[in-house]
Amino acid sequence: MDPNLLTLFKLSLILVNTLMTRGLSDADGVDLLFTQRPWLLQCNQTLLLLEMERCGEQFSIDMNHVHPDDRCNLTHFIREYHVFSFCTEMNAERIGCFWPNPAVERFIISIHKHFFSNCSLEHVVFVDPPDVTLTLLILVPVFLTLAMVVLVVWCSKRSDILA
Ligand SMILES: *[C@@H]1O[C@H](CO)[C@@H](O)[C@H](O)[C@H]1NC(C)=O
Ligand SMILES: *[C@@H]1O[C@H](CO)[C@@H](O)[C@H](O)[C@H]1NC(C)=O
Ligand SMILES: *[C@@H]1O[C@H](CO)[C@@H](O)[C@H](O)[C@H]1NC(C)=O
Repeated sequence: MDPNLLTLFKLSLILVNTLMTRGLSDADGVDLLFTQRPWLLQCNQTLLLLEMERCGEQFSIDMNHVHPDDRCNLTHFIREYHVFSFCTEMNAERIGCFWPNPAVERFIISIHKHFFSNCSLEHVVFVDPPDVTLTLLILVPVFLTLAMVVLVVWCSKRSDILA
């Protein structure tokens, strides 16, 4: 697999995991994924992008504090990355946008490209798991997500019947 793609992929897994943890720890999390936010705030895409830029700028400042040799080593920037991820999440939700959403995802991918495009296999972040493990790591969140969708659909059908 293309090493840059792999790094991007691993970071995407972190995002999926954050989302899953939230979904599982918050009884309303599942609903929030699929339904409108409860307040009547319209997601303003212009404002959203401005907020994301601000998170990106902060991340850029934080990454500058990481030694250049360590910028491909997740151990050294995981905290900064979480702050960034949290920043995009909090600000998107504050202005009434879903998190994640396609615009935020595009922005995060551009950030990944910008900061991690030089990360090559020699500097790869984690010790690479064997392909089977990697496949499992990919498939488990995918299946969990599918299972959640099925569960939500099933629950809403069931409450229709009970109602
Ligand atoms: C969205 O936000 C921008 C920047 O704050 C503002 O100029 C614009 O009027 C807003 N648009 C809507 C539809 O509220
Ligand atoms: C990443 O950083 C940690 C902590 O300094 C170090 O133990 C590890 O060997 C580094 N990994 C790589 C691939 O350089
Ligand atoms: C990636 O490498 C190029 C060429 O060596 C350099 O100009 C650029 O600043 C590097 N980007 C990052 C994010 O380190």
